Amino acid sequence: MTMPRELHLNLFIQSRGHHEASWRHPAASSLPLTDINYYADCARRAEAACFDSIFLADQLGLGDDVAHAPRTWLEPITVLAALSAATTRIGLIGTCSTTYTEPFNLARQFASLDHISAGRVGWNIVTSWLATAARNFGDAAQVSHAARYARAEEFMAVVTALWDSWADDAVLDDRSAGRYVRPGGIHAVNHVGPHYQVAGPLNLPRGPQGRPVFVQAGSSETGKRFAARHAEAVFTAQMEKVTAQAFYAELKALAEAEGRAASQVVILPGLSPVIGGTEAEAQRLARELADLSDPEVGRKRLSGRFGGHDFSHLPMDRPLAPEDFPAPDTVEAARSRTEVIIGLVRRERLTLRQLLAYLAGARGHFVTAGTPEQIADLIEDWFNTGACDGFNVMPPVFPAALAVFADEVIPLLRRRGLFRTAYRADTLRGHYGLARPAA
Ligand SMILES: Cc1cc2nc3c(=O)[nH]c(=O)nc-3n(C[C@H](O)[C@H](O)[C@H](O)COP(=O)(O)O)c2cc1C
Repeated sequence: MTMPRELHLNLFIQSRGHHEASWRHPAASSLPLTDINYYADCARRAEAACFDSIFLADQLGLGDDVAHAPRTWLEPITVLAALSAATTRIGLIGTCSTTYTEPFNLARQFASLDHISAGRVGWNIVTSWLATAARNFGDAAQVSHAARYARAEEFMAVVTALWDSWADDAVLDDRSAGRYVRPGGIHAVNHVGPHYQVAGPLNLPRGPQGRPVFVQAGSSETGKRFAARHAEAVFTAQMEKVTAQAFYAELKALAEAEGRAASQVVILPGLSPVIGGTEAEAQRLARELADLSDPEVGRKRLSGRFGGHDFSHLPMDRPLAPEDFPAPDTVEAARSRTEVIIGLVRRERLTLRQLLAYLAGARGHFVTAGTPEQIADLIEDWFNTGACDGFNVMPPVFPAALAVFADEVIPLLRRRGLFRTAYRADTLRGHYGLARPAA
C-alpha cells in the first residue's frame, strides 16, 4: 500500500513578521527581537500545530535601513541550540554561509546541533550575496555569483566528508575494556582543493541524522543545478502557480538527472497569507500594514536586491518598465529574486509605489489575502497540481497571523486529509520523508 503524499509546512520566523511594517503593528509580539522567548514562543506554537520545521534566515552584515526597520536578529546557530531545549519534535533549520565560514567549524556546529536536538536540525546553505557582508570579512568587493557557487560546491564536498568521517557505530564507550572508539571507526578526510585544505576527521561522532537536512534556496540557473545535486528541501519565491509548476517540474527533473529520487527533494514555495474571518477583514489587515510601511525603506531594500543600483531618480507614480532595472544576469546579488521582481513589473505594469507595497508584504514571496477557506483552497490546489510539496509559511505578523493560520487553516487542511494530526517521526528527516544518508 502506498502512503498518500503528505503536505509539508515550514514556519519561516523573521522579525515580528514578514510584512516590513509588522514590527510596528499592534498585533505584533511585545517582546524585543533579542529575547529568546520570542523565538521559543513562535517555535512552540508551530510545534503544537505539527509544522515540519521552523527556519531562521541570516545575513552577515547590517542593513542600511536599520534606523527605520529592525534589521538585527540573534545568530541562528545559537538560537537553534536554545530552541532544541525549548521544543521536542519540530525540525530546526538555520542559515549559515559557505562564503564566509570555515567548513570544519560549520560541520562541527551542525553536528553538535544534531546531537543537541536529537536529530532535528537542517542547514540552509547560502552563498553570501550582500555587499555589506563582504566588507566584514576582508573582501573589498562582493564575491561574484559564479565564484560563490564554485566555493559552495567545494564546501559541500568537505563538510559531507567531515560528517561521514565517523562510522555510525564508531563509538564503543566500553568502560570495562577501556575502549572508547572502535578501530577503523574514524577516518581522515585529507581534502586538498582550490579553496580548502582539510585533514579531518571531525572531532565529534556522527549525529543522529548522519548529516543535517540540506536546505537551499537559490533559483538562478547555477542555483538550481546546485539544489539538484545537494538540496533535500528547497525554498523558493514564486508569485504565480504557473511559474511554481515550471520550477517544480524542472528541479525534480534536474535532481533525477543527478541520479536522485524526486521524492528526496521537497519543494516549498514561500506563502505569506493575510487571513481574515471575511475577505473584507483580511483586506483591512493588509491595508493597516501597508499604511505603516515607509516607501523609502522599500526603495533602499530594492536597491540592495539589485546590488546597490540607484533607484532614487524613479518617480513613485509612473508605471515601471523592465528597462528601469539592471538586467538580472549583471546582478551579483540574489539573481533569481531580481527576475521575479522584473517579471512582476512586466506583467502588471506596477508603479514604483505599488511595487514597493507588494514587496513590503514578503520581499517578493507570494502574498495573498483571504479567508481560511480561501487559503486552504490555494494550498490544496498548488499541492495537487504539481506546484509544490508544501509551503514555507511566512505569516505577516507574529504571533497573531501564525495563531490564525494554526487555528483556522490547519484544521481545514486536516479535514481534507492533507496534513498530519500528530507527529509520526522524531527527526527532521522523518518529518520530510527523507532517507538517512549512509556514512
Ligand atoms: C525563503 C528564502 C530564504 C532565504 N534565506 C536566505 C538567508 O537567510 N541568507 C541569505 O544570504 N540568502 C537567503 N536566501 C537567498 C538564497 O539563498 C540565494 O542566495 C538567493 O536565492 C540567490 O541565489 P540565486 O542567485 O541562485 O537565485 C533565501 C532565499 C529564499 C527563497
